[in-house]
Amino acid sequence: GVDTLMRIPPSVLKQHNKRDDIWMALYGKVYNVTAYMPYHPGGEKELMRAAGRDGTKLFAATHGWVNAEFMLDDCMVGFLVPEPDPEP
Ligand code: HEM
Repeated sequence: GVDTLMRIPPSVLKQHNKRDDIWMALYGKVYNVTAYMPYHPGGEKELMRAAGRDGTKLFAATHGWVNAEFMLDDCMVGFLVPEPDPEP
């Protein structure tokens, strides 16, 4: 449920940039796309370009018509948020 979702800043997103642990932000939501990887019609290499990053621009440029929000609903881990200010 929505109560288990995390607020994920870019620095945390970046830690999940490996083939066997890949998160990606799309339109403000963060997804764990590790399980989807073998099923991506565009191939694993293309998907890896957005590994641990905000892939919205790449995604929109290649297939803005694809309903990723629906496809990846079960893979959602949280919301992309700005990097918090460092503690003083
Ligand atoms: C193709 C889904 C991320 C590059 C496709 C297709 C789907 C899809 C459904 C087939 C589209 C069609 O045939 O009309 C997704 C999902 C993504 C994702 C759910 C997010 C997890 C990306 C990213 C890139 C990318 C980040 C590029 C960096 C491509 C390319 C194709 C493709 C190049 C075309 C392959 C071809 O027609 O030969 N993707 N995609 N995708 N995707 Fe993705």
